[in-house]
Amino acid sequence: MRSFMGRDILSLKDFERNEFFRVLEVAEQMEPIARNRRNVDMLKEKTMVVAFYQPSTRTRLAHEAAMHRLGGHVTGFSDAKMTRAGDWYQESIKDTVKMLECYGDVIVMRHFKQGAPAEAAKWASVPIINGGDGWGEHPTQILTDLYTVWREKGRLDGLKWLAVGDMRMRTMHSLAYALTQFDCPITFVSPPEMSLTEEMKAELNQYSLNYQEVEHVEQAIADADVILVEPVVQPDYTKARQEAGEHGITPANYKITRELLTNKAKSDAILLHSFPRMDEIPTDVDITRWSRYWQEAFNGVVMRMALLGLVLGAME
Ligand code: CP
Repeated sequence: MRSFMGRDILSLKDFERNEFFRVLEVAEQMEPIARNRRNVDMLKEKTMVVAFYQPSTRTRLAHEAAMHRLGGHVTGFSDAKMTRAGDWYQESIKDTVKMLECYGDVIVMRHFKQGAPAEAAKWASVPIINGGDGWGEHPTQILTDLYTVWREKGRLDGLKWLAVGDMRMRTMHSLAYALTQFDCPITFVSPPEMSLTEEMKAELNQYSLNYQEVEHVEQAIADADVILVEPVVQPDYTKARQEAGEHGITPANYKITRELLTNKAKSDAILLHSFPRMDEIPTDVDITRWSRYWQEAFNGVVMRMALLGLVLGAME
């Protein structure tokens, strides 16, 4: 297995099956620290720089919480407008990253431009972790989701997935790439204008992903062991920021209601959503046996602890 020390986490396309399991095992070792709300000194000599060019609640704060749990330090920005990259100068990724690498030992980047973290990785002497790049990928979120499933179900192989939402989303891309490494058939449900691109489908066929597309969640929910939902009502991920405004409501095809779960879902299926949500999962689903999204949120810290421990060489 390739070492994780010093490695960039940019995409799940380049993850091997045994590397997924190594990350999951390390996360399991980290979990008691977070569960007991302890801080240890594993990364006390390390500093993480966050470079967030797009809004975030979970990804940035979960990385920061993870670094604090491991005794490390945190610096960076959560609004590029307050930096030279976001003002009149529009400083390039290269120039910005050549500065940031002097301020810390790992950089977590979220950017509205697909490929920006990969561009950063070309120039940085420290590992770059992709915290979401445009419509590209969101590898740390899907590693969190795999960990949640693995902990809840005790396995990954043999589980059937249902993915509902906008298939242009970065999470959906990382999910599809990840599942190519497991025996996990997946059904995608999305509005036609948000379906997998032909290019993406060709790529998934090349990796032998067992997938199908259907029009309505009702056609697929009964078979699913894992239901992963993302909004179909959402902002443009290629923009730095969009203010709240008028938006539509989610059609029934892409909505997971309490009634649907009760009448059609497997009794032991689990429901994931990385959040933020709109109306695709009504709040009365929160108190059902299917929902695991609060667990997923906790695991978001655990997974980032594992990744930081690995790329910074505290875990091998
Ligand atoms: N799930 C997720 O990426 O959330 P944030 O946009 O709040 O980071």
